[in-house]
Amino acid sequence: MCGIVGYIGGKNCVPILINGLKRLEYRGYDSAGIGIINNSHSDVIKNKGKVSLLEEKIDNLNLFANLGIGHTRWATHGLPNEVNAHPHFNTSKNLFVIHNGIIENYQTLRAGLKKLGYKFITETDSEVIPHLIDSFLTKGNSLFKSVQLALQEIEGTYGLVIIYDKEPDKLIAARKGSPLVLGIGEHENFVASDVSAILAYTKQIVYLEDGELVEVYRDKFVAKTIADKEIQKEVHEISMTLEEIDKAGYDHFMLKEIMGQPESVCNSMRGRIVLDKGTSKLGGLEGVVEKLAAAKRIIISACGTSWHAGLVGEYMFEQFARIPTEVEYASEFRYRNPVINKDDVIFFISQSGETADTLAALREAKIRGASVFGICNVVGSSIARESQAGVYIHAGPEIGVASTKAFTSQLIVLALITLLIARRKDMSLVDGKKIAEEMQKLPDKIAQILKLNDEIEKIAEAFKDSKNFLYLGRGYNFPVALEGALKMKEISYIHAEGYPAAEMKHGPIALIDENMPIVFIAPKDSTYEKILSNIEEIKARKGIIIAVASDSDNEIDKLVDYTIKIPDTIRMLMPILTVIPLQLLAYHIAVKKGLNVDQPRNLAKSVTVE
Ligand code: G6P
Repeated sequence: MCGIVGYIGGKNCVPILINGLKRLEYRGYDSAGIGIINNSHSDVIKNKGKVSLLEEKIDNLNLFANLGIGHTRWATHGLPNEVNAHPHFNTSKNLFVIHNGIIENYQTLRAGLKKLGYKFITETDSEVIPHLIDSFLTKGNSLFKSVQLALQEIEGTYGLVIIYDKEPDKLIAARKGSPLVLGIGEHENFVASDVSAILAYTKQIVYLEDGELVEVYRDKFVAKTIADKEIQKEVHEISMTLEEIDKAGYDHFMLKEIMGQPESVCNSMRGRIVLDKGTSKLGGLEGVVEKLAAAKRIIISACGTSWHAGLVGEYMFEQFARIPTEVEYASEFRYRNPVINKDDVIFFISQSGETADTLAALREAKIRGASVFGICNVVGSSIARESQAGVYIHAGPEIGVASTKAFTSQLIVLALITLLIARRKDMSLVDGKKIAEEMQKLPDKIAQILKLNDEIEKIAEAFKDSKNFLYLGRGYNFPVALEGALKMKEISYIHAEGYPAAEMKHGPIALIDENMPIVFIAPKDSTYEKILSNIEEIKARKGIIIAVASDSDNEIDKLVDYTIKIPDTIRMLMPILTVIPLQLLAYHIAVKKGLNVDQPRNLAKSVTVE
């Protein structure tokens, strides 16, 4: 959601904060601000809109400070405007706070503080925090103690960073439900909501856990619980590089990430396929393979694109591992009193590993004694750390808000898990080998599809003014229809729906006329003949059809208006190929409409609020 960065050390914090905010802008981008403290001057500068506008404003001010915090916002309470932007401050404007999360009891706290004479100038929930801390400072408490006492009264979620001009040798950071890391440098330290903000300066990272707060000085930090118990934190050396999080010459992160899929898919399976045994080797699941193979039921829980990956996983697990599988939105799972048995295993899929609903669902499942396994991209993320076992997808940092390479890598990992379980059960060596071999061919096949970029761009030109899109697919390609429609909605703001092709006649067919583009995912598999019948039904109603079809298919061209021909693979792996043209189609339409592809309106990369 919102992005947080903080600095204490010997350098000027202003450029460090601005650079950090630019790196974090994918997390929220409706307003931004910084708060700085030095001996002679403390100030807060904020702006509506993107970080570049804030930067312009700051450029003329010639600011210098060794202590500062910065925030880029994704509004929850209150309009995205300058007043509501962070940092928020107390009445004397000498205590600055940035906050990611939601304060659930803010109305009660606000009413109480108003009675004490505190005046509120914003519509945000976050503004209660500086006033509440201030109320403890005025009673003679230190900053650390005041924050600790304030947090004891706050209900909700937070990643918080606080600075105070009467104690300019430190910043205080606290975490509950919103990610926060410390970066350890030489005579300087950093705080951030994710490592990309501070990667240019350090790779020594400390992950804060929920309920922890830390007092950060130039040369040391002290971590405690809210209840004042001192804790020892481990420093991790991370391997991510700056190049991995740059655009590498592409116009947008999304295009870079789409084009990077031959490599990311390769990285997801590197060293994990055991070809001669027709199986896979997944270090993170080593201790739980028996449990997985003996599972009576698998539940997959996730949100957004990760949920679509889970749907493909359901088809894989049921077809090959022969284990009943259910896929559930994390937000529904956590609130509906789900039945969980001791032989169930639950996979939580999340690119960021920080999605609030998925994390809460995981915790709920844990309380009920379930075996909880994570499938995450971000190493060291909350879901990865709180899972009992799991697999990293190793897709590399994904910055574009619309998920692309994480999806294909999630499918690779689900296929690897399928192989692992199925070979323990009744999958033959021959069948296992066939799947493993086909997996190894995927990077080249993806590269072949990416060569269709110009062709797909032309199709995008023809449909950029469409008001609606329908995506249809069957079997393994039904979740791809959902994912294709989601990509179109997310970045092109065109209303799009995905349906199982056969369901079309139970409702969506009423929408079809000569203005309705329908994307059919129609590779030559066992459902192909049925798909052809569905295509005929659409043609009879004058719908315009774009088909994603097999290279070998010479028939379909006669029936449809546009074809995108792609290589074939076995059915279970087909979504890894069929989704690629749909990612490119959504991308090019959004670009042609002049939209901000990497930062679509109202969305955030990592949704850390409910
Ligand atoms: C947000 C993003 C989506 C993503 C979803 C789940 O809505 O905009 O692209 O699919 O969160 O995120 P996760 O990090 O848990 O996979």
